[in-house]
Amino acid sequence: MSHPLQHDWDPRSQVVLDDQIAAYDDMRRRCPVAHSDYLHWSVFRHADMVRVLEDHDTFSNAVSRHPSVPNGMDPPEHTAYRTLIEPYFAPERVRAFEPACRAIAADLVGRLPARGEVELMGEFARDFALRIQCAFMGWPAELHEPLRRWTRRNQEATLTGDRAATAAVAGEFDGFVRRLLDDRRAAGAAAPDDVTTRLLTERVGDRPLTDGEIVSIVRNWTVGELGTIAASVGILAHHLAAHPDRQRLLRKDFALLSAAIDEILRIHAPLIANRRITTRAVEMGGRRLEAGARISLIWASANRDEAVFGDPDEFRLDRDPAQNLLYGAGNHVCPGAELARLELRVVMEELLARTDRIALVSERPPVRAVYPAGGFSSLALWIDRCL
Ligand code: HEM
Repeated sequence: MSHPLQHDWDPRSQVVLDDQIAAYDDMRRRCPVAHSDYLHWSVFRHADMVRVLEDHDTFSNAVSRHPSVPNGMDPPEHTAYRTLIEPYFAPERVRAFEPACRAIAADLVGRLPARGEVELMGEFARDFALRIQCAFMGWPAELHEPLRRWTRRNQEATLTGDRAATAAVAGEFDGFVRRLLDDRRAAGAAAPDDVTTRLLTERVGDRPLTDGEIVSIVRNWTVGELGTIAASVGILAHHLAAHPDRQRLLRKDFALLSAAIDEILRIHAPLIANRRITTRAVEMGGRRLEAGARISLIWASANRDEAVFGDPDEFRLDRDPAQNLLYGAGNHVCPGAELARLELRVVMEELLARTDRIALVSERPPVRAVYPAGGFSSLALWIDRCL
C-alpha cells in the first residue's frame, strides 16, 4: 500500500519568500532532502547534489513533456545538441564579444546620475542583461521591452505553478524567435552574419535543425542569461556596497575581480534551482525516493554547505574553484559560463572604474527577489560617479 508523502516544508510560505537563502540554510541543516507539494523533493546538501550531477543515468533531465534543448535531454541525445552548441561559447567567440559588452556597460554607467540614489535593478542590471543578450544574438533593440516583460511574466508563471500561463508565455517567446528566423530567411544572403543566422545553418546528425529546435535552443540561452545576469549584477553591487573594505580592495586591483565574483555568487546565488527526475528508486539523506520522483537541486543551498565551505558567509579568494557549483557540474554544466564570467567581470570593471563609491541607502533596504528568481527585485544604492 502506498502512503501519501509527508510535507517537510512549504517553499512558497512567506518566511521562505522573504529570505530564500536563510530558509534554504535552515532546511539544509535540519532536513537536507525534503519533500513539499510544490517542489516535490528538494536537495540541499553539496554532497547529495554532486551525486545527482554525476549520475545522469539515475537522475534524468527529461523532466518536462515540452522539449527543452539541451537542458531537458539525456545522453546520447543531449550530447549531439551540446556538441552543436558549445562552439558558440568557444573562448575566441567570448573574447570577440568583449568590446561590445564593454561599450554597453560603459554606456549604462554613464546614464546613472552623477551623484545620487539609483534603483539598480530597474535602472541598470536588467538593462545590462537585456542589451548584452540582444547584442550577443544579433537581435534588434525593439526586442528589449517585449523581452523585459516576457522575463517577468515567465518568472511569475513559474511561481504560481500555472501551467496554462507558462505555456502561453513560452508560446509568446517562440513567436519572437520565429519572426526573427523568417526575416533572416527572407533576407537570404543579405541576412546579418550573427549567432541567430548561424543557427539556421546548423545540422544535427544528417538533417538541418527544425525551427522548433532552434527556438528551444534560443529559449534555453535566453532563460539561462537574462535572469541570472541581472540577478548577479545586483548581488555583486549590493555585496560591494555592504562591504566597503572589499569594494576598496577590488577598486585597487581588478585582477582579483574574477575570483571575487565567483565567490560572492557562491555566497549569494543568482540561480536558485534546476530539476531532475529519478529513473529508479534511490536512498538519499535517509529518505527513499521512488522511480519517477521529481527533484529540485537547490544551488542556493549547496554552495553554502558548511561541510564544504565552513562558514558559508566567509569571503575567501583562495577557495578551490572545483567545489563552487555556481555554473553546475557534470553533463549539463553551464555552456555559457565563460561568457557569463566575461560579462560580469566587464560590467564590474566599468562600474568600479567610473564611480568613486557605491553605498547602501539605509532608509531603503533592498527587496529580495522571490522564487524562482534570485538576488533582489529592487535595490536602492547611492552612487558617486567619477566626473
Ligand atoms: C551568472 C550567470 C549564469 C549562471 C549562474 C548559470 C548557471 C547554470 C547552471 C547551474 C546550469 C546547470 C543546469 C543543470 O544542471 O540543470 C546551467 C546550464 C545552462 N546554462 Fe547557464 N548560467 C549562467 C549564464 C548563462 C549564459 C550567459 C548562458 C547562455 C547565453 C547560459 C546557458 C545555459 C544553458 C543552455 C544551459 C543548459 C546546458 C545543458 O543542459 O547542457 N547560462 N547554467
